Amino acid sequence: MNASTSDYIASSAAEVEQALKRVLPADWRIPSRLRDAMTYSLDAGGKRLRPVLVLTAAEAVNGDGQLRQAAMPVACAVELIHTYSLIHDDLPAMDNDDYRRGKPTNHKVFGDAMAILAGDALLTHAFYAVGEAAERGVPAQTLLSITTDLSKLAGASGMVGGQAADVLGEQGVTSLAELEYIHLRKTSDLIVFAVTAGARIGGASAAQLRQLEQFAQKIGLAFQVQDDILDVTGDEAKLGKPKNSDIDGHKVTYPYLLGLDKSRELVNRLTDEAKSALMQADLAMPERLLSIADFLMSRDH
Ligand code: IPE
Ligand code: IPE
Ligand code: MG
Ligand code: MG
Ligand code: MG
Repeated sequence: MNASTSDYIASSAAEVEQALKRVLPADWRIPSRLRDAMTYSLDAGGKRLRPVLVLTAAEAVNGDGQLRQAAMPVACAVELIHTYSLIHDDLPAMDNDDYRRGKPTNHKVFGDAMAILAGDALLTHAFYAVGEAAERGVPAQTLLSITTDLSKLAGASGMVGGQAADVLGEQGVTSLAELEYIHLRKTSDLIVFAVTAGARIGGASAAQLRQLEQFAQKIGLAFQVQDDILDVTGDEAKLGKPKNSDIDGHKVTYPYLLGLDKSRELVNRLTDEAKSALMQADLAMPERLLSIADFLMSRDH
């Protein structure tokens, strides 16, 4: 199962790479330094997990493969937001990291001001990208729901709220409940967006969306716990970012609170719970989402 899942993720990620190359209109007048800073991080690779989830969820609901292309602008949108969040996350005022996606961080190359602005521009452009799905036949009402979800899940009550709690909580987090809140907001929420936005394009019912939200929340939490584990145990060459960033930044993480073994058990348990929730969504084609959940559990980068 793993070989075919990794092939599937790689070929889907390649489709996303092609679309991302065209996401910023070539004829827009943009200061070249800003365009360079935006494309530097966007072109740097990364696993493209979130956009792959958008495409996979769109197809999964009714098994209609053509919806993958309809969903591509929304897939690009989530990667634009994710990339901006990484640029800002690495800034000296936040995690102060020098290395990301195998390259020097954005601010190391372009300076803090341009890195902040590149993040701002990527964030704003995500909403432009969502609008472009209208040209691929996604109904306006669906795009309105997707825009509302994106504002909420990427913003103050979602990812940005989680990042704020993460920064405010450094060393002060003492309970698992507080840490779970941070991880759910800073990481799960964007993954919930990816899965549910894809599913909306696929025509999911309200009941299906509720199950998919549970699925995504749990794989998202597992994903961040695994990120914390890899910060301790990973291989920097594979990760493309420094190890021990959490220790150096005095972050409270799952391995810090629970130890490595219990953190690994939690990743397994959350993945099982996620798959159970997904099975109850009664999708035409759940297999790829199930196998992505399993694949993420054993990821090394
Ligand atoms: C890193 O995300 C930040 C987290 C939310 C854990 P990814 O591990 O998906 O990073 P890329 O996109 O592959 O670089
Ligand atoms: C970052 O969490 C989450 C977001 C960027 C929203 P981390 O700070 O743990 O991510 P890495 O380890 O730097 O990729
Ligand atoms: Mg961080
Ligand atoms: Mg970080
Ligand atoms: Mg981390």
